[in-house]
Amino acid sequence: MNRATALRPDFLWGASTSPHQVEGNNLNSDWWRMEHQSQGHLELSGDACDGYHRYPQDMRLLAEAGLNAYRFGIEWARVEPEPGEFSRAELNHYRRMIETARDLSLEPVVTLHHFSSPRWFTDEGGWTSPQAVDRFTRYVVQVCDVLGDVSWVCTINEPNILALMTGMANAVADGADLNLGAGRRMPAPGTEIGEALVNVHRAAAAVVRERTSAKVGWTVAQQALVPVPGGEDLYDRLRWAWEGLYHQGAEGDDWLGVQSYTSQTVDEKGIVPAPESPDNTLTGWAYRPDALGIALRQAWADTGGRVPLLVTENGIATADDARRIAYTGEALRHLHAAVADGVDVRGYLHWSALDNFEWGHWAPTFGLIAVDRRTFVRTPKPSLAWLGSVARRRGLLEEETRQ
Ligand code: FCB
Repeated sequence: MNRATALRPDFLWGASTSPHQVEGNNLNSDWWRMEHQSQGHLELSGDACDGYHRYPQDMRLLAEAGLNAYRFGIEWARVEPEPGEFSRAELNHYRRMIETARDLSLEPVVTLHHFSSPRWFTDEGGWTSPQAVDRFTRYVVQVCDVLGDVSWVCTINEPNILALMTGMANAVADGADLNLGAGRRMPAPGTEIGEALVNVHRAAAAVVRERTSAKVGWTVAQQALVPVPGGEDLYDRLRWAWEGLYHQGAEGDDWLGVQSYTSQTVDEKGIVPAPESPDNTLTGWAYRPDALGIALRQAWADTGGRVPLLVTENGIATADDARRIAYTGEALRHLHAAVADGVDVRGYLHWSALDNFEWGHWAPTFGLIAVDRRTFVRTPKPSLAWLGSVARRRGLLEEETRQ
């Protein structure tokens, strides 16, 4: 029984969540407000998975399956409900989460911002306001008090998607009609917001480095874009707007988070939307487990091979758990191949631990664990035991890569 490729002995095997998607009742956040103002376009997060109270059980299920890491986030809107007013009780709550993970031998990978912000921050102009750096770093200073021995810290999750969301929210506020229905081409994230986020990230990373011994990075939504003939020029521009800017922002970081789900081509008009296909996942994305290999190689090349990579999200929205196992096995084969080619990958964190609130929608189920939305009862799926067994064996076996 040979392993496919030797991964590092300290390779992280885990699963990810974000606070707004699992905790429930994130009342002070801009997302909670947006859900309620959306006139039915967005479903409500409500109690979510009641993860705020049930995190010990969630972590125990991951650890018992054989995983050794858990990525979760701290919710800014809880910690600082009004500007400058910090809740010690909420900070202590997150400290308990870190300690619970440690007690279960799960390496905590802690995200400081995952899409949702306090309402007051968004109201005063958000990321492009002149106060953004001060506001975020003031929060991060407080959080550092409870990070203690955490070794992996992510400042901002998917700044490229955050830039896109912020740009779209601003456009709608200015009266634009954004029809993003099936077959429509997505706009690219605005570089002005992107540059503002790079500044915020650098300032926040400096604070964390100064006050803790954690390895600091951020996580980028990788599109795994591939040009088709005629699309080369636009490909270069789009790759910059989607990823290059944020990979450059990771220059000097301790690690870069790779988040990958699908791959798309670029033609002379831009990113080609995934055509309708029975193979598409519940988010409408093309079934492309090979995307992870493309994403890892692009991120590694963009950062000149100087920044170690951590897969902080990879997974599939499906109601068919056998398909989740097939997708993930295939994605891991591509991870092994990238490592064999010299890409420095430090871990694999699956999205997601739980079926959770998928930003306005409950139907796309990404979880290794099902959650009953009324009773909050957790039911691990076979994919959790499967991923745990891969983790215990520290990677795929040689024969598994030949399947
Ligand atoms: C990423 C987000 C994560 C989840 C997955 C499916 O964009 O970071 O919260 O929604 O996609």
